[in-house]
Amino acid sequence: MNPAGVDTIKKGLIIAIDGPSGAGKSTIARLLAARLGYLYLDTGAMFRTIALMAKRGGLSLDDDDGLAALCRSVEILFVRADDDSCRIFAGGEDISELIRTPEISLLTSRISAKKVVRDILLQLQRDIGSVGRVILEGRDIGTVVFPDADVKFFLSARPEERGRRRFLELNAKGEKAGLEETIAEVLLRDAQDEQREHAPLRQAPDAIVIDSTFLSIEEILVEMEAVIRVNPSV
Ligand code: DC
Repeated sequence: MNPAGVDTIKKGLIIAIDGPSGAGKSTIARLLAARLGYLYLDTGAMFRTIALMAKRGGLSLDDDDGLAALCRSVEILFVRADDDSCRIFAGGEDISELIRTPEISLLTSRISAKKVVRDILLQLQRDIGSVGRVILEGRDIGTVVFPDADVKFFLSARPEERGRRRFLELNAKGEKAGLEETIAEVLLRDAQDEQREHAPLRQAPDAIVIDSTFLSIEEILVEMEAVIRVNPSV
C-alpha cells in the first residue's frame, strides 16, 4: 500500500527533492529526471496555478469552498518543450510565465498554507507519484506526500545566494526587480513556508542535505546520481 492507500505496481524509485525557494530544486529536478528517464513533477507549479486562478476569479483566501471547487476543477497540464523546459497549461492556456511573477510567488506561499488546498493537491501528487520512476520537487514531499520515498534530498543555499539567483532569473525575463527587494521576498516566503501550520517546509530526518551555495549544477547532479544509482531498483 502506498501512503494514498491504493495498491499500485510501483516501478523504479520515488525521489523527493525538498528545500526553500531559490535553492535550485527545479533546475536540478528537471535535469536529473532527464538523465534517469524519470517523470518530473513540479508541485510548486500546481500551487502557483491555483494562486493565479484564485486571483483571476477574485477568490478570498477565507473562501474554503471556493478554493476547494477551484482545486477540483482546474486542469493542469505539464508539457515538455523542445528545449527540455517544462511548460504549464491550465484550461488550455500557457501560464508558464504568469505563475512566476513576484506577486504570484507571494500569493502562492499564502494559498499553499490553506489546508483545503493542500489536502486536494496532496491526493493528486500521490496519484501521480505512486507509480514510481518519478522525481517530485516541493517543500513537504519527503515529510508528508511521500514519507516513504526511496531517496530524499533537501537542497538548500544561503538566503543571499538564493535571492541573487532569483534576481538574475527575473531580470533575464525582463522583469524589473531590485536585488535587496528580491532577497527580502525570498526571506518572507521562507518564513511563511516554514511557519505555517499544515505541512511546513521542513527537512525530513532521513533526507540527504545538499548546500548548493558554492556548488555548480553539474556537481549537485553528480552527488545526487551517486546516491541514487546505488539503489538496484533505479
Ligand atoms: O517551489 P516554488 O517556489 O514554485 O513554490 C511556490 C510556493 O508553493 C512556495 O512558496 C511554497 C508552496 N509549495 C508548498 O507549499 N508545497 C510544495 N510541495 C511546493 C510548493
